[in-house]
Amino acid sequence: MKNAEYLNDLFGMNGQVAVVIGGAGALGLCLSTGLGKNGAKIVVADVNPDACQAAVDKLTAEGIEAVWKTVNVTDKASLIELREEALKLTGKVDMLVNCAGINVGNPFLEVDPDHWDKILAVNLKGTMLSCQVFIESMLKNDDGGSILNIGSVNSDKPLSRVFAYAASKAGVVNLTQNIAQEFASQGVRCNAICPGFFPAEQNRKLLDEQRVANIMNGTPMRRYGDPNELVGAAILLLSKKAGSYMTGSAVYVDGGFTCSWF
Ligand SMILES: NC(=O)c1ccc[n+]([C@@H]2O[C@H](COP(=O)([O-])OP(=O)(O)OC[C@H]3O[C@@H](n4cnc5c(N)ncnc54)[C@H](O)[C@@H]3O)[C@@H](O)[C@H]2O)c1
Repeated sequence: MKNAEYLNDLFGMNGQVAVVIGGAGALGLCLSTGLGKNGAKIVVADVNPDACQAAVDKLTAEGIEAVWKTVNVTDKASLIELREEALKLTGKVDMLVNCAGINVGNPFLEVDPDHWDKILAVNLKGTMLSCQVFIESMLKNDDGGSILNIGSVNSDKPLSRVFAYAASKAGVVNLTQNIAQEFASQGVRCNAICPGFFPAEQNRKLLDEQRVANIMNGTPMRRYGDPNELVGAAILLLSKKAGSYMTGSAVYVDGGFTCSWF
């Protein structure tokens, strides 16, 4: 086999379908584009319909087959509707990417219990519910399925002033591992990527001058990540062949943030 043929056999996703929840957001759209360019059909699912349409327009302009459907990850009925629509439109769901997320920053004594509940509901409960809903259909596939959850450097150590977010992302990795062990023998794999700092809507507002300095000091590569730098890890973890023995992994893509002390 020549190079391209070999790599396509190992990583390629031709004819497979990926549902990307939070797919209209910065990282979700970038991952959708990467999976789409690698051959997958994409179902963009997000709470924001205008952003969904704009995302699908962008994907289509790149020659990627894509459709969209709104979803609220905190609501199991809405996720079931998404699954049924995705199955109707595409016949089968091979991959699920859980990219919906929200964040609010505050010192601990000012943590608002309502914000806490909302963040945990989207980031952690939402990830759990969508895994539950899509695993049900993946178990019916002859060749199973693969899930990619999005953790964070907070999954390893808590960043200051984002208490609910940090707890939710620690929970996402724990949940990923627990789902992985439950379905490992049934053909469904579940992994996570844990991105470092890729400024986008949900975290840009938290980046004051001091925080930026702390992030740069703590990141050995001394720069933010570009969302495209997440695509390779995502394809590896999701791919049926290259990732076939990977489940329960949390892959940090963070410019060295979690391996550095100073
Ligand atoms: N950008 C970063 O630096 C970074 C770092 C680590 C982890 N993450 C995580 O990556 C994921 C994507 O973040 P992003 O940076 O692209 O943010 P983003 O705000 O651009 O995207 C998040 C998307 O989630 C959607 N969403 C919010 N609530 C939802 C709900 N209830 N149901 C369905 N969709 C909902 C939003 O509409 C948005 O499109 C999040 O889980 C985030 O925590 C991001």
